Amino acid sequence: MAFLGLGAMGSRMALNLQRKGFEVIGWNRTAGKGQPLAEAGGRLAGSPAEAARGADFVVTMLSDPAAVRGVTAGPEGFLGACRSGTGWIECSTIGPSAAREMAEAARAAKVAFIDAPVLGSLKPAADGTLVFLVGGPADEVTRVRPLLEAMGRTVHHLGPAGQGAAAKIVFNMLLGTMLAGLAEALTLSERLGLDRARMVDLLGEGPTGAPFLRMKAPLMLTEDFTPAFQLKWLEKDLGLALLDAYRLGATLPASEGAHTAYAAARASGHGDQDSAAVAAILREMARGPAGA
Ligand SMILES: NC(=O)c1ccc[n+]([C@@H]2O[C@H](COP(=O)([O-])OP(=O)(O)OC[C@H]3O[C@@H](n4cnc5c(N)ncnc54)[C@H](OP(=O)(O)O)[C@@H]3O)[C@@H](O)[C@H]2O)c1
Repeated sequence: MAFLGLGAMGSRMALNLQRKGFEVIGWNRTAGKGQPLAEAGGRLAGSPAEAARGADFVVTMLSDPAAVRGVTAGPEGFLGACRSGTGWIECSTIGPSAAREMAEAARAAKVAFIDAPVLGSLKPAADGTLVFLVGGPADEVTRVRPLLEAMGRTVHHLGPAGQGAAAKIVFNMLLGTMLAGLAEALTLSERLGLDRARMVDLLGEGPTGAPFLRMKAPLMLTEDFTPAFQLKWLEKDLGLALLDAYRLGATLPASEGAHTAYAAARASGHGDQDSAAVAAILREMARGPAGA
């Protein structure tokens, strides 16, 4: 099987497949990132097409819709190299519109498509405990289930192609607004003269207590923004949610505000840091004019 995209998430997912008995041929735009897979016995290909030639399955785990489009088409694109009936498991977070576009491109190439984005970050990816949100035909989901179970602990089939991607952007829309809300809560605490660490403990005790708070609040307090989930990808996911909402005539004012905060943080150089770095820019903005 081919695995395209050996970044932070993809490298860990591909390793699980290789260790659990699948013969993985990996490809990554920046070739050096394939080294861990090669050391685990996987093979590396020079192009998406080379990786996919003869494969029963192709997994993609790339940054955004443009990256996924880039590996499908053209002389090095994998769709033209697939044999009829190959299964394509699209795990990147690209939103439902791009997922349905990919399903259409796959259908034209006689490739069976499912969208299967994931819940869980670097540790679940390494431990093989991701949660898959899946869209596509039921028989295809059954066919790819052993692969998904080699990388994750749960597979939720949510409907036809695009519905896994739709559920994923709902999750990240909420995550993005909650994280920005937490950052603002810490900023306001500071301006009100409250101890931020003590407020994190109190917020954890009340109805606001949530796993994301335990994960992300310590990073905000210490300003350790070593990336697990890069801020630029959360900005991208909120943008995808807003685009689909706009297409449907829906308005998401809280998400728009959060999206602006992530865009400002990225523009200030926090894009490659963990998404918790939104706290740094909101803290800066809340300082007010000099002397205030
Ligand atoms: N990290 C998380 O916690 C997490 C959790 C759930 C879902 N996700 C989603 O999973 C996906 C991957 O995230 P990640 O954290 O693994 O990000 P990452 O480490 O930045 O990896 C991104 C991957 O996309 C590739 N890529 C980017 N632009 C490309 C292009 N134009 N052509 C070909 N390849 C391209 C990168 O190649 P290079 O190495 O050459 O740059 C890399 O392999 C994203 O959609 C993200 O939203 C992430």
